[in-house]
Amino acid sequence: MSEETTKRVKVIASGDRTILPEGTKMIPVFIMGKKYMLPETLTIQKAIEYAGYQFIRACGCRGGICGACPTVWRVKGNYQLQFGLACQTVIEADMVLAQLPFFPANRARFDLDELSAAGEVVMSLYPEVMKCVGCNTCTRACPMEIDVMGYINAAMRGDVAKAAKISFDCIQCGLCSARCPAQIAHYHVAQLCRRLFGRYVLPRAEHTANRVEEILAGRYDGFLENLAQMSEDELRKLYVAREPEPQDSAGWEPQDKTYL
Ligand code: SF4
Ligand code: SF4
Ligand code: FES
Repeated sequence: MSEETTKRVKVIASGDRTILPEGTKMIPVFIMGKKYMLPETLTIQKAIEYAGYQFIRACGCRGGICGACPTVWRVKGNYQLQFGLACQTVIEADMVLAQLPFFPANRARFDLDELSAAGEVVMSLYPEVMKCVGCNTCTRACPMEIDVMGYINAAMRGDVAKAAKISFDCIQCGLCSARCPAQIAHYHVAQLCRRLFGRYVLPRAEHTANRVEEILAGRYDGFLENLAQMSEDELRKLYVAREPEPQDSAGWEPQDKTYL
């Protein structure tokens, strides 16, 4: 695409930013060192695709939920490196972009059934949490606006429940760990705390245990086999005809209770 395309493009207005609003301006963006002229309304993810690249990694939900798309960039003229989610950040002129396939952060191996919710467990698996210098860079890096330093501090104090609750919205993108001078893998620490909290602190969900037993006893085997035999067309029709759960599902039950 030539640089002359900085003139505004005429296209149909739409809520989808890939279908460009009328008058969208083309701006220069550098992807892996190469210059492209791209529509100013696109997210980094859509801009990279618009430039002709195809994601085979570092892309998942496209909605800011899966954490698969951490990206690093700098804007020419500004020395600062910036980090964010490619699916949530709109491009700007003179962005120099690089896509991160994943963070090779340290993740401890453990068998949840052999642990307990005692604070020492977190410390023994992730002793590096004690190196936190309280700079709060992790919190500022977080696209989910989580108090990352707060949950690391809770983990340092052995307060597994607090660390689990503060980190509940973590999408495991790893951007906090990319910035941490203490080299802490925050999101893996948080995941351990949530697992310990769910396994040892929260009351057991009996209905889930019952359902697992039913699954193991083969209650749904025939139903699943039947689904596996269906054509794509039949599956589509079944999906469209299903009884959807309402937004407010408190007290709701489907009319067909065959598999309840
Ligand atoms: S970035 Fe690292 S050192 Fe700084 S507050 Fe967060 S955990 Fe602590
Ligand atoms: S806590 Fe870290 S890994 Fe989790 S969403 Fe925030 S920046 Fe991403
Ligand atoms: S693709 Fe899932 S958070 Fe960006």
